[in-house]
Amino acid sequence: MDKLKQHFINREEEVISIKDLYKSFENLDVLKGINFSLYKGENVAILGKSGTGKSVLIKIIVGLLKPDKGHLQVLGKEVNTLSKRELDALRLRIGFSFQSSALYDGMNVYQNLAFPLRMNLKNLSKKDINLAVERVADAVSLKDKLSQMPSDLSGGQRKRIGIARTLILKPEIMLYDEPTAGLDPITSTEIIELINQVQHRFNTSSIIITHDLTCAKCTSDRIAMLLDGKFSKVGTFDEVFETNDNQIKEFFNYNFM
Ligand SMILES: Nc1ncnc2c1ncn2[C@@H]1O[C@H](COP(=O)(O)OP(=O)(O)OP(=O)(O)O)[C@@H](O)[C@H]1O
Ligand SMILES: [Mg+2]
Repeated sequence: MDKLKQHFINREEEVISIKDLYKSFENLDVLKGINFSLYKGENVAILGKSGTGKSVLIKIIVGLLKPDKGHLQVLGKEVNTLSKRELDALRLRIGFSFQSSALYDGMNVYQNLAFPLRMNLKNLSKKDINLAVERVADAVSLKDKLSQMPSDLSGGQRKRIGIARTLILKPEIMLYDEPTAGLDPITSTEIIELINQVQHRFNTSSIIITHDLTCAKCTSDRIAMLLDGKFSKVGTFDEVFETNDNQIKEFFNYNFM
């Protein structure tokens, strides 16, 4: 199930550019000099042990946390200089699939999917909303679940609806935090295929944070390994894991045993 290379990556265009980025919490130094580029059309998987700062990094990318030092450009904007309004406008161009699926339990699937449109694009007709909801529900193969409540869906279906909900605003960048965590292997495979379909169909660039090496291998064009606050190794899956570095070998062995 290796990744099919049907998409075009433009290495001249950086959609995310990070230079020498630092972040600490009180006495805890989490990010200690991150350098990274995500190119247009590219999927990059970020790997690293629990607590190494992967979620902190994507929260910084969407402006939910402020870095202590360093440069961060997203879609050509220096994130830390933006006003609240400019930041809101930028966030509309980024789809963020949270570690937990975070659907609204009191709304059915249709209402969950329509919610970002209703909140952000005020002048849409009922017909426009219907079309957009159907389009994303179809993209995640759950058109027949629109009237169901989130509690009646499986974990994998909730994940897919969470992804559909971010797709509805046609994001240019997708950030997936642990998309396959807690899912059985078959459902994981469906999510992996969905991530690849999203890249091809919506021409997005993505960061996929994962502990799941199958997911990393199958969804990403490059892997970035976060070790001790820095990207110690960035490259294709084979480049990263053909190594004598014990910390990287340990990660690989642990995952594939
Ligand atoms: N708002 C915060 N205030 C204080 N400490 C925080 C905050 N957010 C994260 N941390 C700490 O920063 C470190 C990195 O957290 P982060 O959530 O990025 O880890 P992670 O790499 O995503 O781990 P996991 O794989 O378990 O999701 C942790 O030690 C965490 O406790
Ligand atoms: Mg995390």
